[in-house]
This record gives sequence, C-alpha cells and structure tokens, in this order.
Amino acid sequence: MHIHSSISALRAALGNRGRIVFVPTMGNLHAGHISLMEQARAHGDTVVASIFVNRLQFGPNEDFDQYPRTFQADCDKLAAAGVDVLFAPTEADLYPEPQAYFIEPPAIQNVLDGEFRPGHFRGVATVVAKLFNCVQPQAALFGKKDYQQLLVIRNMARQLALPIDIVGGETVRAEDGLALSSRNGYLSAAERVEAPRLYRLLTGIRDAIRDGNSNFAALEAEAIAELATAGWNTDYIAVRQQTDLAPPQDRNAPLAVLAASRLGTTRLIDNIEV
Ligand code: PAF
Repeated sequence: MHIHSSISALRAALGNRGRIVFVPTMGNLHAGHISLMEQARAHGDTVVASIFVNRLQFGPNEDFDQYPRTFQADCDKLAAAGVDVLFAPTEADLYPEPQAYFIEPPAIQNVLDGEFRPGHFRGVATVVAKLFNCVQPQAALFGKKDYQQLLVIRNMARQLALPIDIVGGETVRAEDGLALSSRNGYLSAAERVEAPRLYRLLTGIRDAIRDGNSNFAALEAEAIAELATAGWNTDYIAVRQQTDLAPPQDRNAPLAVLAASRLGTTRLIDNIEV
C-alpha cells in the first residue's frame, strides 16, 4: 500500500490507475470500515482510502481533540484489506490556509443530527468535496450507519454533477446488534452492555410499522421513554422517508427509523430501513 500526504504526490500516483474507488474515513478503523474497503474492490480497479480527522465537522464542544488517532494500526488494517493507496494529509496539507469557501447543504443539514450538531454537515460536505477533488474517484463508498451523511453526499454529487457513483455500505454490527462505531470505544464496560438497547428499539419500531402500525409519534415516544428509564438522554428517534428524511407524507414512501441518544457521555447514532 502506498501512502501519500501531499495532494500533488497523490495525484501523480493516481494518474494511470484505471477506475478509482474511494473510501474516506477519519481513522480508528473497525470492521465496518474494512467491510467498505472490501466492497470497494467491486467498484473499481484501484481502491483509495483516506484518513483525516476533519476539524470543520466538529462543534466547539465536541470531541475533535479526543477523537482516537490510531494511524499505525489503521495502516496495518488497510494493507491487510488490500487497499492500494492511502491518502493521509495533515491539516497543513488539506487546509494550508483557513477554509473560507464551503459547501452549504440545503435544509436537510438542519434536521435530525443537524439540529443537534449545527454546522456538522457543512463541514462534512466541504471536506468530502475537497477530498473528491484530491482523489478524483469514479465511485465512493459511505456507510449507511451515517444515513443522513450518505444522503447529503449523494445529493451534493447529483446537484453539482460530480461524475462519481455514491455507494452506500450496509452497517456492520456486533453480535448483540450494536452498530460498530469509532465512538463505541468511549463506552464503559457497563455502558457497552446497555448500548444494544438502541438497536433493539429500532428493530421493534420497524417491526411494528411492518405490522401496520402507523402511529409513528407514539412509537417514537415509547422508545424515548424506555431509553430515559434506562438512563439514556435522547436527541431524537424519528420515522422518516428514506429519500429526503422528511416526516412520512406519502403512504408508499420507503421509511427509515433514525436515532441519536447519549449513554453517559457517549453519543450513539443508529438507523434501520423499514
Ligand atoms: O464518516 C466519516 O468518517 C466522515 O464524516 C468523513 C466522511 C470521512 C468526512 O470527514
């Protein structure tokens, strides 16, 4: 695996490598990321990963400084997964001057996670657009665990006519259902035992909807109440249309249930398609 930190070295290295498929990450890689790397192989000739902890997408009280940085272990995992090229820029490489031009997503950036993390999707969209310009891929993979992020990127690529296929990868879960996430490492042993409750509640809501229950507000409220009893502090549990994350309007629209809740100091997000 070749590792590049400068944009010019990366571009020179990718000049003649066929169809390029790209998997951007912030490192601290787990089996969910590795699954994306393995799926990537089917979408191109050269698999490029990136590791960059993007300051722009963290709020002032979020975990940018604490975010786990495990570069050597990540490189070993990427090489073992058959990744061809790793782009690992420093902040000086990617933001040599303060970033003053941004990708401003529309209203979708202010709902669900966006309501609780103002500016987050603007920071994500901006860095992904910039990484796309560095790597110039023909396809890019994003995990469905970050459902809203996937939609923001997919819409951005379509609206800006970027010649990149945006592919969503299924969420990888631990045996007890907990979605794999870099932030799971923040959980205490007791919290780790409690954490799968979130996914159990999401599957319960999905099953109720499949059985014909369309009282979404009641389903959401019941789940939030159970989480509160178990010591969670919930930002949202929401039944939404898959295509635009709006509250369900069309009876036939495919739905997803999305959640963000805090267990101790760890904010977990998850979702399930109905
Ligand atoms: O999902 C992530 O890890 C990040 O939001 C991404 C897409 C790498 C942008 O920094």
